[in-house]
Amino acid sequence: MNVKEVFAQAIYKQTEISLEQIYRLIEVPKHPSLGDLAFPCFLLAKTWKKSPASIAEQIAQSITEDCFSKVEANGPYVNGFIHRESFTISVLNQILYERENYGTLSDGAGKTIVIDFSSPNIAKPFSMGHLRSTVIGNALSNIAQKCGYNAVKINHLGDWGTQFGKLMAAFKHWGDEDKVRKQPIAELFTLYTKFHEEAEIHPQLIDEGRQWFKKLEDGDSEAVYLWKWFREESLKEFSKIYQLLNISFDSFAGEAFYNDKMGETIEKLQGQNLLEVSDGAEVVDLTDVSLPPCLIKKSDGATLYATRDLTAALYRQEHYQFSKALYVVGHEQSVHFQQVFAVLEKMGYPWAKSMIHVPFGLYLQNGKKMSTRKGRVILLENVLQETIRLAEQNIEQKNPTLENKKEVAKQVGVGAVIFHDLKNYRMNNIEFSLEQMLTFEGETGPYVQYTFARACSILQKGNWNINSNFSLKKLATNDVVNDDSWELIKLLFSFSNQVQQAFIQLDPSIIAKYTVDVAKCFNKYYSKVKILTNNNGLQERLALVYAVTVVLKNGLQLIGVDAPKSM
Ligand code: ARG
Repeated sequence: MNVKEVFAQAIYKQTEISLEQIYRLIEVPKHPSLGDLAFPCFLLAKTWKKSPASIAEQIAQSITEDCFSKVEANGPYVNGFIHRESFTISVLNQILYERENYGTLSDGAGKTIVIDFSSPNIAKPFSMGHLRSTVIGNALSNIAQKCGYNAVKINHLGDWGTQFGKLMAAFKHWGDEDKVRKQPIAELFTLYTKFHEEAEIHPQLIDEGRQWFKKLEDGDSEAVYLWKWFREESLKEFSKIYQLLNISFDSFAGEAFYNDKMGETIEKLQGQNLLEVSDGAEVVDLTDVSLPPCLIKKSDGATLYATRDLTAALYRQEHYQFSKALYVVGHEQSVHFQQVFAVLEKMGYPWAKSMIHVPFGLYLQNGKKMSTRKGRVILLENVLQETIRLAEQNIEQKNPTLENKKEVAKQVGVGAVIFHDLKNYRMNNIEFSLEQMLTFEGETGPYVQYTFARACSILQKGNWNINSNFSLKKLATNDVVNDDSWELIKLLFSFSNQVQQAFIQLDPSIIAKYTVDVAKCFNKYYSKVKILTNNNGLQERLALVYAVTVVLKNGLQLIGVDAPKSM
C-alpha cells in the first residue's frame, strides 16, 4: 500500500464517505511546509454538523500510522507529513527491485484494446498529420500495455477507393515503371496530381478513372496487378519511416481487407431495417442523434469509407473482443467517427460505447497549417534525415570518440522529432521547429536523453553494480532526504500515477512532460549534492541516481524514445 492509500484508509476509518472519494479529494499541497498530502474537510461539514476546521482537528489527531512523521490540522485541511526516511527507502527499494517493470499497473489485466493509428494512404505522401497519429498511437499502445492491457496495433491502410482508378488511368497514360520503382510515392503522387490537372481539360479522364476502379472491384487481372504493385511499393516506403521511428504494427489490415466482408455488414443493416434510399444511395438516417446520414452504398453500388469502417469495427470486435477501440485520427474526421459509432449503436451493439475517436492538433509553420506541397513529398522522411544529420554533427563536436555514433545519432535525431510532437497536449497545435527540437535545453528529447546519459556515467564512475541485489535498509546521511531529493523521490514515486493519468486522458504528453520534470529535478539535486566524492552514503546516493535512470528510461520507452547510455 502506498502512503496516499494509507492516508486515505486512515481517514476512511473516521468518515462515512467512500474510499475512492477520499482518495480523489486528497491533494498535494503547493508548499512543502504544508506537508506532503492534504485532505480538505469541507464535504464532511454538512453531515458532521461541525466546522471543517474542527473536523480537520479531530481527524488529524486520529491518524497515528508510522509512515507519517506528523499529521496536523491547518484550517479546514488535514496535512500529512510523510516520514521521509522510511518513504525514501521504500520507494528506492521498489524501483531497484522492479526496474523495467516499475510503474506497471494491472488495471487492464485480461482486457484487449485495439488502437487504429498511422493509417496512411497508399500512393500518397506520409503527411505530418500521419506522423502525429503514428507517434501518439504508438505511445498510447505502450501506455495501455503498461496499464496491463493487451494492446493491438492496427494500421488501417488507405488502400482502396476511387482514387486507385484514377491512379491506374494516369499510369496507363503517362506512367514509367522504372520511375515508380525508384521513387514510388513521389512518382505515383505526381501521376495522381497530373491526372487532376489533365482532367480539367479532358473531363473524359474522370470516366476512365471510374472504369478502372470498377475493373479493380470486379477483379480484373491487370487492375489487380497494378493495385498490388502500387500498394507494395508504397508499403516499402512507409516501412522505411516505421523502421526509423522504431514502430511496428500487429496488423496491416487496411481498407481493402474488408472488401469481401462488407456484404455481410450491409445485410445486417438491411435485416434491421436501418437502410434507407436517398438520391439513389443507401444511407442510415441519423437525424435523431443530430448527425448527417451515414452513406453506406453509392447509387452505382460502390461502398464507402464508412462502410469499411463499420465492417472493420465488427471484424475487430469478433476477432479481438476488444474492451476499448481507439482511432487516432485528425479531428477533421470527427463527424465520420461519430456517424460510424452512432450506426453501431443503432445496430444494438453495447460495445459501440467503448469506441473512442482520439483527435489531435495540427502542425503549424509560422502559425499556418503545414502542407505537404508538391515537390516536397515525403516531407517526414526528409525531416528525420535532417534531424539525424544534425544530431551527428553535434556528436562530432562534443563527443567525437563516442562508440556507435551512427546509432546514437539516430536515437537522438528521431527521439527529438518524437519528443517535439509528444510534449504538447494532444489537442494543441504544434509550431514546427527543427532548431527547437534539437536544443539540449528546455523541454526537448535531447535534454532528457542527455540527463539520462549523465546519470548513467555517474553510475559507471561510482562502480554501481546493476545486477547486485542491493537494497537499502537505513540511510547513512540525509543527502537523499534533503529538500531537493525529497521532491525527486516524490516525483519518482508518482510515476505509476502519471501512467494512469496518461491512459485516462489518452494523452502521452503527460509522460513526456513528466520525464522533463524528473530530469530537471535530478539536475537540480545533482548541482547541489556531491554524489561521488564522499564514501559516506555513497550507495544510497547511487541508488537514487539509478532509480532516476530507471524511471527516465521507462518513461522515454513509453513515448517511443530511445535512451542511449552515452551521447
Ligand atoms: N487513411 C485515413 C487518412 O489518411 C485514415 C484512416 C483512419 N482509420 C480509420 N479506421 N478510418 O485520412
